[in-house]
Amino acid sequence: MNILRFCINGQEREIDFSKPESPSPFCSVLHYIRHYEKLTGTKEMCGKGDCGACTVILASQTDSKGECNYRALDSCLLPLAELHGNHLLTIEAPADCMDTLPIREAFLKERASQCGFCSPGMVLSIYSHIKNGYPFTPEFIKRTLSGNLCRCTGYTTILQAALSLEKAGVIIKQNEKPLLFPIIENNSLNLRKNNESYIRPVSLTELKELLKDYPHLPLTGGLTGSGMTYRKSVIDVSHVKEMLACEETEDFITLGASCTIKDMSTLLGKHFPYMVPYLEDFASEQIRGKATIGGSLADGSPVGDIMPLCMAHNAVCIIMGPDSIREVFCDRFMLNYRKVDLKPGELILAVRFDRPAKNVFYAAFKQSRRKNMDISSVCLAATIKLINGKCHSVRLVYGGMAAVTAHALQTEKFLKGKVFSLSNCKKAANCIAADFEPLSDLRGSKQFRMDTAKNMLISLYQKYSEQNE
Ligand SMILES: Cc1cc2nc3c(=O)[nH]c(=O)nc-3n(C[C@H](O)[C@H](O)[C@H](O)COP(=O)(O)OP(=O)(O)OC[C@H]3O[C@@H](n4cnc5c(N)ncnc54)[C@H](O)[C@@H]3O)c2cc1C
Ligand code: FES
Ligand code: FES
Repeated sequence: MNILRFCINGQEREIDFSKPESPSPFCSVLHYIRHYEKLTGTKEMCGKGDCGACTVILASQTDSKGECNYRALDSCLLPLAELHGNHLLTIEAPADCMDTLPIREAFLKERASQCGFCSPGMVLSIYSHIKNGYPFTPEFIKRTLSGNLCRCTGYTTILQAALSLEKAGVIIKQNEKPLLFPIIENNSLNLRKNNESYIRPVSLTELKELLKDYPHLPLTGGLTGSGMTYRKSVIDVSHVKEMLACEETEDFITLGASCTIKDMSTLLGKHFPYMVPYLEDFASEQIRGKATIGGSLADGSPVGDIMPLCMAHNAVCIIMGPDSIREVFCDRFMLNYRKVDLKPGELILAVRFDRPAKNVFYAAFKQSRRKNMDISSVCLAATIKLINGKCHSVRLVYGGMAAVTAHALQTEKFLKGKVFSLSNCKKAANCIAADFEPLSDLRGSKQFRMDTAKNMLISLYQKYSEQNE
């Protein structure tokens, strides 16, 4: 079947890719809505997930009774194929599908819009905030809007408009009817157009067959990392149900590699609450709801935020090949700059974490040029097992300090066996120079990185003492 079925603003659509006039399955949703649907309320600016001007809502059914979840996503990073089985809502949606009138009125009242270029995206992000039942505090609203940039109004009036909407959920609910969804028999896809193919398995059995047949086809997860560069033929693993699961046993928590960063924050965050604020600084709401754990690790970026957490926890990557499954400690997974331990035909199936242990202090810090929507200049994830106030085992994993995410081995060695104190952390900071010789680049000079890495060790102790006051 070479057909895509979805709904847009209350109407059903079917795209048959065999027809010459059809777009490509890789066409961005942004391009599709502006050029094929002639819905130009959604704006195009950066084209790479940085500004939120292109924000749309993707509603997916969560059960047969019509319950659905609403995700605000950047349509410039969303391939058309992702719409299959879902309902796409743009700023033009009629009120019985998506009632944004109360939000638009609040913008008017608070004068939260000038040129208006960012406003459709802002309105839709706030709509998803309301639909997801997030709290109406400045902190939560800033988090929701962290992926939406405004270059002229300033954020105070936008924040005021959003804060004034605390009760808007009730009005919105009254005006909206249940969303329509297309009837589809199978969620897996094999879409072909000219020499392009977009293959989306939904089960591990299907995926295994595909890996045998096409061992050299690139894989994609959320398409927010280097997955964005593939535009010809891919196997999209983000809908494989076994890779979306989270399994908890007495000893371990195993997250499927296609869980998003948002899922990770919910599923792991309940066991390791320190991870939640750290993961909330990952990109923006739009990216966190799309980027996957597997994609983050396989991307092999030395400034990625997920690998330091995995290494500090001594987590295990579960890797599946066409015929077998193997396990690799995350410590050994990154081989070199952007090179990871994956052979053709292999993929990351899941990542396994030990359950929280007694007497272990966990912390993570991220320093980036701006708080949100930026990859780290330097980050640190740490786990320290303390026995009678002394460091029994120490894992300090830095991102942004070398060509790969790496342990500060000398610093770990220095702290091991010593009392965990401010003075020892200050002394340990002097070992960082023996561990790393960072580069200077646009995210920070060598000196800045060294100073930040040292200061993070001091912050580590401060965090510990705050928690144990
Ligand atoms: C605006 C923006 C902001 C960002 N901010 C941050 C940030 O704050 N912190 C951060 O760390 N990163 C950030 N990133 C980078 C990006 O989000 C991450 O690298 C992301 O987690 C990649 O995940 P993905 O699922 O989108 O991967 P994809 O782009 O789909 O794939 C990335 C790579 O992984 C491979 N791959 C995907 N899934 C698997 C699998 N299961 N097994 C094997 N290989 C696989 C793909 O083939 C590809 O090579 C940002 C990106 C954007 C666009
Ligand atoms: S156009 Fe900027 S995020 Fe899509
Ligand atoms: S109102 Fe002009 S960019 Fe926000």
